[in-house]
Amino acid sequence: MGPEIDRALTQGLELIGATADLEALAAAETAVLGRRAPVVELRRGLAALDEDGRRVFGQALNTARQRLESAVGERRAELGAVERRRRLEAERLDLTEVVPERRVGRVHPFTAAWERLEDVFLGMGFQVAEGPEIETEALNFGALNFPEGHPARESFDTLWVEWGAPGSTLLRTHTSPVQVRTMLAQEPPIYVICPGRVFRQDTPDATHMPVFHQIEGLVIDRGITMGDLAGTLEEFTKAFFGGSFTSRLRPSYFPFTEPSAEFDIQRPDGSWMELGGCGMVHPNVLRAGGIDPEEWSGFAFGFGIDRFALARHGVDDLREFWSGDIRFLSQF
Ligand code: PHE
Repeated sequence: MGPEIDRALTQGLELIGATADLEALAAAETAVLGRRAPVVELRRGLAALDEDGRRVFGQALNTARQRLESAVGERRAELGAVERRRRLEAERLDLTEVVPERRVGRVHPFTAAWERLEDVFLGMGFQVAEGPEIETEALNFGALNFPEGHPARESFDTLWVEWGAPGSTLLRTHTSPVQVRTMLAQEPPIYVICPGRVFRQDTPDATHMPVFHQIEGLVIDRGITMGDLAGTLEEFTKAFFGGSFTSRLRPSYFPFTEPSAEFDIQRPDGSWMELGGCGMVHPNVLRAGGIDPEEWSGFAFGFGIDRFALARHGVDDLREFWSGDIRFLSQF
């Protein structure tokens, strides 16, 4: 009986080892361990043996059976792992973006304009100051000499923040509150620029976005005049745009400057582009900043950064810059 048991075992192990998937393994298991399996049929032959023969071959059959059972278990684990891998591979989602050539990140055109502006002003002796994007009504309007209920407050299309007393907190509508923060934080003389993000209720279109970037300038010193303002802006125009550009001031109104002006630049072809507002810091604003208007005077200016990028790259729709479309942005 011994050789038959050995053969049943060897053939059984071969059969199990040759299975290619779980389905084939189930069939092999039936063939090797099921009711018709050799190890089961051989057991019936034990009855014809004497007691010693039954014990010896009974044990040999049990061992063979156990080895076959554990071989089935091991093969099941192997095939299961293969099948799981195959399924995962089949269900895999390729989330990588196919880019035809290797691309490294690049500076967004707004950031590039922002940094160039900073460079030019740093070269002219200014320092950079910063303030929060969520601002108090008191600094965004109050300290800037907007009287309570003044229509100019409405013209800023404020986005209010639900925080503290109603109407006390907002998304800053301009970088001008940083003027006051700077005056409160440092003693004159002050020569700072404050670039930053500002917010207004606006429906996005080609030239407006509810969020945009401004750069503010503030100079406080002894004996500062409107002539210093005009000269600074002219020097900036030539440094930033080139020697063939020039600038002009047009009378305007802002509550926080007196007198106030609009600041335009002229391109070499003679056409004018409006850049922003400016003026001599209003005495009330100096006082709100803790500065004595009898001793100090100053000027401020502020303009949008995003339109610079627009004009510089000949793009006619601001929204393109916000699209995040790599094909668009990688042109710059
Ligand atoms: N804060 C003004 C605006 O957002 C611009 C400005 C800044 C005007 C400084 C005068 C002085 O329109």
